[in-house]
Amino acid sequence: MVKIAVIPGDGIGKEVMTEALKVLEYLQRDDSSLQIDTTIFPWSSDYYVQHGRMMPKDALTILKSYDAILFGAIGDARVPDDVTVWEFIMPIRKQFQQYVNFRPVKSLKGVASPLTNGKDIDMVIFRENTEGEYSNSGGHIYQHQPQEMAIQNTIMTRLGVEKIVQAACSYASQYGKSKITSATKSNAIIHAMKFWDEHTKNIVAQATPTLTLESIYIDALVAYFVERPQDFQVVVASNLFGDILSDLGSAIVGGLGLSPSANVNPEKEFPSMFEPVHGSAPDIAGKGIANPIAQIWSLALLLGHIGRPDAEKRVVRAIEAVLQEGAVKTADIGGQATTSQMGDAICQALVNKKHTARGV
Ligand code: NAI
Ligand code: MG
Repeated sequence: MVKIAVIPGDGIGKEVMTEALKVLEYLQRDDSSLQIDTTIFPWSSDYYVQHGRMMPKDALTILKSYDAILFGAIGDARVPDDVTVWEFIMPIRKQFQQYVNFRPVKSLKGVASPLTNGKDIDMVIFRENTEGEYSNSGGHIYQHQPQEMAIQNTIMTRLGVEKIVQAACSYASQYGKSKITSATKSNAIIHAMKFWDEHTKNIVAQATPTLTLESIYIDALVAYFVERPQDFQVVVASNLFGDILSDLGSAIVGGLGLSPSANVNPEKEFPSMFEPVHGSAPDIAGKGIANPIAQIWSLALLLGHIGRPDAEKRVVRAIEAVLQEGAVKTADIGGQATTSQMGDAICQALVNKKHTARGV
């Protein structure tokens, strides 16, 4: 039995998680070999308001006994965003060595991209997830005085850079990709980014001989994402650059409601965590109109990670079938369906797909 910890979180996190669990239930009802046990944890901003902390002191010890974590989103006006991020997401990502943040960016039939060149986009972003610009090294001193100052250090370790680039190279060779694109800014950030470039180059050189590396300055790269996104296959980036590139990646294929992500500890020493790229979307929370696809797709990535790529493909195919058919669409992609109608349509497509496959 595989044990999954489920943390819906705040805002639309709770709404989209309901749909992902519905999909999981449908799958399990239909496939008795999918033995998954879920436990729901209420850790969120509500929990913070009641207990003064985002999660209990022993939360990581509790989570460590699970095979994977399915997470929704956090963020609520009652709690400062840096508290929700640094007391919840960061400890899980860092302590569980989830150093790969894997974010697929794929154009989908039936979803209009705001870009007009009409070419297929199919890339994955490997974002370094435990160090880099998102470090808590630094300080803020001389508050309210003229000499007030803040320092925020970027931390790049050789092991950290090597491991994320190695993960990108292994993916490229496993899926027959020929090019790695590295996001850099070594012309201006001359210590950390030159270090990033040097070790990226070494690791790609040691990988498959057919793999080529292109290093592109981040400011140019964001423009190329818009002008010629079809040219990118596997993009490797530091924590901050990868974070920005993946929201941009979501936007060019139709929006945040469609984009899943995986925080992976490839060694499987700790549980990995699967979550949509989007946040808690307070502007639409409570209205029942959020698109649950990013969350359901994150569940699919989790299924692949726990050794069920067949179930992963089945869920992704069901999502693609619903989008291609186009009868059920949430507001973010130009329709009027509710969150739960979209979840139901995907459950239905799971069953239909299976019937089709049997019929053939
Ligand atoms: P956001 O991703 O929550 O929302 C950005 C925009 O995208 C909003 O207009 C929202 O309505 C729309 N959107 C997002 N997901 C959608 C979905 N599934 N369906 C339809 N529309 C969707 O980012 P924002 O507004 O910057 O942050 C809101 C809160 O979420 C903040 O408290 C922030 O700290 C938190 N956040 C949490 C994350 C996490 O839990 N991993 C990630 C990003 C933000
Ligand atoms: Mg982000």
